[in-house]
Amino acid sequence: MDPKAPAQLYLDSEKDELFERGPWPKPFAFNEEVVRVFDDMVSRSVPMYREVVACAAHWAKDYHQPHTRIVDVGCSTGTFLELLGRFLKSPAILVGLDNAQPMIDKAREKLAHIASHHKVELHCLDANLFSFADSSVVVMNYTLQFLPINQRTTLLRSVFDGLLSGGLLFLSEKVKCHSPHFQETITRHYEAFKERNGYARSEIERKKEALEHVLIPLSQDEQLAMLYDAGFREVDILLKMHGFTTFVARKTTPETRPL
Ligand SMILES: C[S@@+](CC[C@H](N)C(=O)[O-])C[C@H]1O[C@@H](n2cnc3c(N)ncnc32)[C@H](O)[C@@H]1O
Repeated sequence: MDPKAPAQLYLDSEKDELFERGPWPKPFAFNEEVVRVFDDMVSRSVPMYREVVACAAHWAKDYHQPHTRIVDVGCSTGTFLELLGRFLKSPAILVGLDNAQPMIDKAREKLAHIASHHKVELHCLDANLFSFADSSVVVMNYTLQFLPINQRTTLLRSVFDGLLSGGLLFLSEKVKCHSPHFQETITRHYEAFKERNGYARSEIERKKEALEHVLIPLSQDEQLAMLYDAGFREVDILLKMHGFTTFVARKTTPETRPL
């Protein structure tokens, strides 16, 4: 892959028509039905999805330390790891983690062609049971938001503890606004973006209902505080659109965390 060329993602799924007519998945879950349409769903629902995945590949390349692991938490169908696998010239250890077996099965198919060049490991596991030891890069795009809030702190601490010094966390989340006024505007613009991507009003409403109590966004300040609490001291915001925000956090020494 030419690093200067715009990245083409390997998206491979049926069209997302899950919420067109009933019965639709409610509450929303990453089951077989969702996996079947996932690549189409995520690329039409997440603002700047292609740019974020490509950006994560560039950051992963910059912060990867030789002979260490690059871990994608909530790897879904393996889209990021597949792109990264084509992007990295030197062989690397690429680890995908997801607690939905159908996602891991799909990722295994998608990553088969890069497995001759890189060491690819896929684990069907809850992220909180994973050890991030020997990792120099952890990518977690749109996954933390699905964990109960008390488990998010535990997971970020475990990422921080496992990361090597100088290691990077690349984190993307949907965040909510403090201002109800701005939140209303952002939601309206986000839903218009989904309509432009071919979703009907009724589909947008049904999915929103299905995601209630499943995807719980924090505010940007709460997310930043959680990163600092985990121990990260070098934290920044890279991208933001319609509330979808990408944070970068680097583990620096001394590796201390407030008790
Ligand atoms: C919105 S998707 C992530 C999209 C993916 N990172 C991408 O960029 O294409 C969220 C993923 O997180 C996984 N997930 C949710 N909770 C998890 C947990 N506790 N441990 C591991 N994976 C989890 C889901 O199965 C799902 O595949």
